[in-house]
Amino acid sequence: MGSKTVVMNLPEHELPRPKVALGIQSDAAFTEAAKGLRGRDLASISDLTVQEMAAVMELAHAVKAHPEDFRHALDAKQMVLIFEKASLRTRLTFEAAINTCGGNAIFVDQTHSVLGERESLADVAHNLERWMDVIVLRTYAHDTVTEIGDNAKVPVVNALSDWEHPCQALADFFTLEERFGSCEGLKFTYVGDGNNVCHSLMLAGALLGAHVTVATPKGYEPDLEIIHKAIASAEQTGGSIQLTHDAAKAVTGADAVYTDVCISMGQENEATKRTPIFRPYQVNEGLMTQAAEHAVFMHCLPAHRGQEVTDVVLDSAQSIVFDQAENRMHAQKALLLMLLGGAKRIPRDRGLNGKRRKSLA
Ligand code: CP
Ligand code: NVA
Repeated sequence: MGSKTVVMNLPEHELPRPKVALGIQSDAAFTEAAKGLRGRDLASISDLTVQEMAAVMELAHAVKAHPEDFRHALDAKQMVLIFEKASLRTRLTFEAAINTCGGNAIFVDQTHSVLGERESLADVAHNLERWMDVIVLRTYAHDTVTEIGDNAKVPVVNALSDWEHPCQALADFFTLEERFGSCEGLKFTYVGDGNNVCHSLMLAGALLGAHVTVATPKGYEPDLEIIHKAIASAEQTGGSIQLTHDAAKAVTGADAVYTDVCISMGQENEATKRTPIFRPYQVNEGLMTQAAEHAVFMHCLPAHRGQEVTDVVLDSAQSIVFDQAENRMHAQKALLLMLLGGAKRIPRDRGLNGKRRKSLA
């Protein structure tokens, strides 16, 4: 790893402080963020500023609490989903999100050939932009997302690539905001492979002022580029990024413990090699006892039960995996509203949505 890390087990008064305002403070701040996001791509969480991330979160709370207020916000908008890999949650939550705002989804099963094989990615983009208002891609190569994004005049959204899964991270931190009131100062621990999901979680946690700790086996750390970007954001927000190979240490005192599969889609031929390496990183009852008493367990799903997580943890009262799955829809609805226009501010009633995290300290 060799990268700068920030030690987070500091006394409260020595913890880093935000240098920028966190959360949305006014209608004007929300409007500015929404204006900035309109027409943009979301290939990576690092495409978002601190304020834009906060605005997406605030809108996600609004659309979940007041879905009827957005029933016609995307009337007649056309969204295409082109997926090179399997999906349950991402496909259905994107479809439900746009359908319930008056728009329409068209699904293209791209699992039998790679995008760009039949015609160039630029030509694909120049066709799609003539019919579609937004393009949602699930790909092997991240470059496929950025190349279509660079060529299409309409927004392009990464619905999972080998580099990131930004929509997952939006939903996950939205779920944590619901649970804890705010992610500022939240101790968030990811255990497992430094993969696409891990990358987006690090970047999102840092933008929201969380203390993110990542425990991976040696050789499976997140990419240095992501680490540097996440640290740069954390320095703005008062969050921190810590990397370790010690799962028990990483989980100690955590508010949230997250894991993902250790064999991602496309890595099936590495199963024999990876399985024993990741065995010590399994999230089980023993590991969860290290976390805070109020800690939640998280997983993007699908889970490989008995591998990266045990049934007992996944099915426990601490597990919020199905809240995460539900919130994919609300968070993506907020994202689509931002990118396509139709966003409006309905300030969040924190009193109804959950207690402030400080009350748990
Ligand atoms: N978490 C997630 O992206 O699920 P799917 O692969 O089912 O879309
Ligand atoms: N890391 C996993 C996430 C699946 C939602 C994969 O890429 O297969």
